[in-house]
Amino acid sequence: MTTTVLVTGGAGFIGSHTCVELLTHGWEVVVVDNHSNSSPAALERIEKTAGRPLAAAYDVDVRDREALGKVFAAHPVDAVIHFAAKKAVGESTQKPFDYYDTNVGGTTALLSVMHQHGVHRLVFSSSCSVYGDAVKVPLTETDPVAPTNPYATTKLRCEEILTDICRHEPRLRVLALRYFNPVGAHPGGLLGEDPRGVPDNVMPYVAQVAVGRLDRLRVFGDDYPTPDGTGVRDYIHVMDVAEGHRVALGHLDDAPGMRVFNLGTGVGTSVRELVAAFAEASGRDVPYEITGRRPGDVAALVADPTAVAGAWGWRTSRDLADMCRDAWRFQDLNPAGYPD
Ligand code: UD1
Repeated sequence: MTTTVLVTGGAGFIGSHTCVELLTHGWEVVVVDNHSNSSPAALERIEKTAGRPLAAAYDVDVRDREALGKVFAAHPVDAVIHFAAKKAVGESTQKPFDYYDTNVGGTTALLSVMHQHGVHRLVFSSSCSVYGDAVKVPLTETDPVAPTNPYATTKLRCEEILTDICRHEPRLRVLALRYFNPVGAHPGGLLGEDPRGVPDNVMPYVAQVAVGRLDRLRVFGDDYPTPDGTGVRDYIHVMDVAEGHRVALGHLDDAPGMRVFNLGTGVGTSVRELVAAFAEASGRDVPYEITGRRPGDVAALVADPTAVAGAWGWRTSRDLADMCRDAWRFQDLNPAGYPD
């Protein structure tokens, strides 16, 4: 039975929610985060939300093998969940070196240190973006991969590295989870998505329009081959993503080697439908205008979530109304995000 989990990127959006889920289910949680895109304030909010302390939290970059080694030496780590990475698609086209260094270099550094300390169980944070411009939806794990930007390529490279190392290190067990579009917040109102600067992603942007921080949403194109012309995505509640990681930990020992699963709901939602659902949940207007397509965007990405359901007997349980309600509660209670 796994008892101590090391969570890299534990102060970030998905990481912080996963820490709460793990703490409330009795795990000991050690966080490693360099706070390059997360607030240290999230750490105390994790503990307040879960009603239990973290075992420890370290301001460490996963590429710093020496510092990371000290963390492994100080705790009886049974498994690792690796979230720490850069994730902005647009930025990755401007700074591909940084993306390879942090995402691929960070993963290989972590793997080496895990190996040195005899830790062989890993849940890896992957992305639906590895599928690229999907030829069909919904997507199964065996559909072709064809990343369209360096961010997505780094996630696929990490999957390939993990697959290859697993071939030669039979003790290693890896679950790579390809998330679709995580949104929403913990219903307690203390934790949520708090991007630095103007949000890139649609849900935090819409939330900031609703609260009055931004004037209107720019909808990137209404001429896609989708029912209303706007982009369709599989939005998944961040607490379902968190729960998926907790459940995954219990299935690391099902089989040796590397396995890949989609984490999505199987439901596609257009940008227009998302805006309408958010306006309904918040009771606020969400003005928008249609602008041109965003370079690199794809028409539709929706998961076929049946593989994970078959393997673990687990499905997502929260719908779009829950995602909007919880994202709004966090935005409404924390209009300026986390305190500095
Ligand atoms: C992208 C990545 C995903 C990654 C996520 C987090 C792809 C295909 N997907 O998701 O893997 O995890 O970023 O960074 O690369 N939109 C607007 N106006 C906005 C913002 C977005 O209309 O201001 C639209 C987009 O055109 C898209 C939808 O909203 O149709 C979702 O966009 P976004 O939230 O940015 O996520 P993805 O690009 O799908």
